Amino acid sequence: KRKVILDCDPGHDDAMAILLAGSKQSNLNIEAITTVAGNINVEKNTLNALKVCDKAHLDDIPVAQGSDKPLVKKMEVAKEIHGESGMDGPQLPDTPSKEPIQAHAVKVIIDKIMQSDNDITLVPTGPLTNIALAMRTEPRIIPKVKEIALMGGGTFGNWTPAAEFNIWADAESAKIVFESGVPIAMFGLDVTHQALATEEITKELAKIENPVAEFVVDLLTFFSKTYKDVFGFDGAPIHDACTVAYLIDPSIFSFEHVHVDIETKGDYTYGMTIVDRLGVTEKEPNVHFAYKLDQDKFWKLFKDALQTY
Ligand code: BDR
Ligand code: CA
Repeated sequence: KRKVILDCDPGHDDAMAILLAGSKQSNLNIEAITTVAGNINVEKNTLNALKVCDKAHLDDIPVAQGSDKPLVKKMEVAKEIHGESGMDGPQLPDTPSKEPIQAHAVKVIIDKIMQSDNDITLVPTGPLTNIALAMRTEPRIIPKVKEIALMGGGTFGNWTPAAEFNIWADAESAKIVFESGVPIAMFGLDVTHQALATEEITKELAKIENPVAEFVVDLLTFFSKTYKDVFGFDGAPIHDACTVAYLIDPSIFSFEHVHVDIETKGDYTYGMTIVDRLGVTEKEPNVHFAYKLDQDKFWKLFKDALQTY
């Protein structure tokens, strides 16, 4: 099985990424789940990760809490989208059955990669703080990371007109990661908005009778409402699940190999991903930029995965 570390801020769509990776049909082995401040503070994101693991009986996966704030900028969370808990909607027990492990997420990432046979893929679906800190703390991990499949950025924004939330939430970290030289598969808004869970899709998922599928439907019900209220969308894009779907079946996506820079200065453009699709900078490509998703294949994969619970 392909080894992955899910670095996340659950988060409705982060939760769905975990569930897809943890399903019985998945070819992925989750080495650890690490959490970061993002959709809500890191303590709540950690609680949510533990609750998702409980729900899906993913009992043996270590969950490690990570960075509680971005490297440089002030922390800002996404309550408008994910609610006060960071994962509002489903009714869940207040306290998860287990605690996070003692080690800090950055240490877990470093140790797992240093001990690996260069076969660990990082799957960040929140701000890139933990990954940047791991690279700065132990640069020897950089050539050992197999690949980074991340959700972030795009050629338009959702938090500012220019910037997507995960990159905007810590653009300095994003810059470190994008300039690291590790092969990056980038799932930005251009493609994740194509993974739109419409009412029709949610109804289909509701036919699957198991507690995990019910949990997903509850997540989608809340998430779709905030997407309607905030963006006027008919459904919610399950952004983060694209990263995992790619690792299970890369043929779902179409890519361009391009250069991407991260803006960390602009008054209007902080956190923007500058995607050079036409090659005008003549800079060496550093990113496999996903721009198209096969919706039938994607939803079939997601449905089949939920059916295995
Ligand atoms: C990203 O921001 C968060 O709200 C989601 O979990 C996703 O990772 C989308 O911009
Ligand atoms: Ca996320």
